Parts: sequence; C-alpha cells; structure tokens
Amino acid sequence: MTDQILSENIDGVLVVTFNRPEKKNAISNAMWAGICDIFRSASEDSSVVCALLCGAGDNFSSGVDLSGFSEEGADPQALFNAAALAVAEFDKPLVAAVQGASVGGGATVLFHADIVYAADTFRMRLPFASLGLAPEWGSSYMLQANIGAQRAAELFYTAEWVDAEKALSQGIVAQVLPAEELFDHAMAKAREIAQWPVNALREIKRSLRMHHLSAIEIAMQAEQEAMARQAGSPENMEAITAFMEKRAPNFRGL
Ligand code: COA
Repeated sequence: MTDQILSENIDGVLVVTFNRPEKKNAISNAMWAGICDIFRSASEDSSVVCALLCGAGDNFSSGVDLSGFSEEGADPQALFNAAALAVAEFDKPLVAAVQGASVGGGATVLFHADIVYAADTFRMRLPFASLGLAPEWGSSYMLQANIGAQRAAELFYTAEWVDAEKALSQGIVAQVLPAEELFDHAMAKAREIAQWPVNALREIKRSLRMHHLSAIEIAMQAEQEAMARQAGSPENMEAITAFMEKRAPNFRGL
C-alpha cells in the first residue's frame, strides 16, 4: 500500500494518518484506495477498538488531489465512492485530530467522525461552488444534521473559510486546543474510549448512526449524480486550470 496513508494499531487505537504533507495531504487515488482498505479491515479486526484520523505536518488535508483526475487507468470517482462509503459505514468510534487546512473531502470526512478535536490553526472550507462542483461524502445531509440547515447552506453557498473559533461555536468540532497539544489530547481521548469492550462501542455507534445511515445513502446517490453532471463541465475545468496555474478563476461568459 502507498506510504501516503499510514495506519498503526496502538493498544486498540488505529491511528490513520494522511501522509503527504508536501501537497497539504491532498488525497491521491492511491490514498482513496488505502482509506477504503484500512476502514474496511478495521471494521473486521477485533483488535481495533476505535480509530483516530489525523494528518501529517501542518495541515489535515486539502481534499481531492485536483491533479489526479488526469491520472491514466484510474477511475477517481469509483475510488472516492468506495472510500467514502467505507468511512460512513465504519462501525466503531471515529475520532479526528485536525490542524491547518481542511478542504473539500478533507473537511466532509469530518462530518462522519464521532468527535473532532481541532488545533487553533484549523481552517475549513467547502469549495464545491468555487470549483463548479456539487457536495460529496454525504455532506449535503450530514452537515445539516450536525449544525442545522441554514448554517450548512451558508458554508456551501459562500465557500467561505471557517476558522477554529467558528467551527467550535457551530459544533463542527468538539474542542479547540493549542496546536502542540492536539495529537496528545486526541490520542488520550481515543485511549479512554479504547478501554471499553468493542462490542459495546459498536452497539453505541450503531444506535447513534442508524437514524442517519439511510439518509446518507440517499444523499450520496444524489451527490454522485450531481457530480457526474458537473465534473468536467466548463466551469469545473476553468476552476481546476486556475488552481494549477495559481490564478483566480474567471467564470463569467462560460
Ligand atoms: N490537489 C493537488 N495539489 C494540491 C492540492 C490539491 N487539493 N492542495 C494543495 N496542493 C499542492 C499545490 O498545488 C502545491 O503544489 P506545488 O508545491 O507543487 O506548487 C502544494 O500542494 C502546496 O499548496 P499551496 O496551494 O501552495 O499551499 P497554500 O498554503 O498556499 O494553500 C490550500 C493551501 C489548502 C489553501 C490550497 O492548496 C488549496 O486551496 N488547495 C486546493 C483545495 C481544494 O480545492 N481541494 C479540492 C477539494 S474538492
């Protein structure tokens, strides 16, 4: 498996790390495949009691690798769909520790975490409108469920940056910590969880999530259809080209 994503079982806590800091942990096709494998295996593995998701370096993740769409032989959408489902269906507690930038899929994954701890450097963005795209990872449902319809709509429509303070006040994260304390704090909480019997934690997770699962499935289906309409559209191509050329996109006249 690629070393762009790492996993290590530490006393029942599976620490999963996005490990591509030079690209702000942008999620490559190999990483999507890795996410799927890791979470599917972790569900089956009784030595894993809970998972802690984090990012190497100063950022959690800048989301989908925007250069991966042109990778030969890969079907990025299928890889993404499989990974998204594996995380959404993960049946044990999922804790996240996030710092710096958290964008696109590097943000929507958090809406499936049971508890998110953030560094004071955390900043999150849902850039779908600015990329000419639609929401993904069931976020069109999960964000509303987590923080309410109007707050979710504001973040999707404006594609604004949300800082740690706002994320805390809206309930996107549970707690904000100094960056240097983030990992140790999240790990201590994950260890606190991992002391309990895995089957009890599974049943609790099932009870907490069962109301959401069918809605997530419907949302993912609708999102995939919307994404198929928008991906590769002129505005999407302009947004991606502008990012690669390090300039502002120009959507007027398209
Ligand atoms: N896909 C591919 N490459 C990415 C990337 C992504 N999602 N995010 C960052 N990178 C690359 C940059 O191209 C750059 O590569 P280079 O050093 O070869 O030029 C490197 O990572 C560093 O990123 P840079 O943009 O210079 O860092 P920054 O600190 O100025 O900004 C972000 C950080 C996260 C705000 C910015 O990189 C960004 O907006 N990324 C795109 C996020 C996005 O739209 N994701 C898609 C979600 S659907």
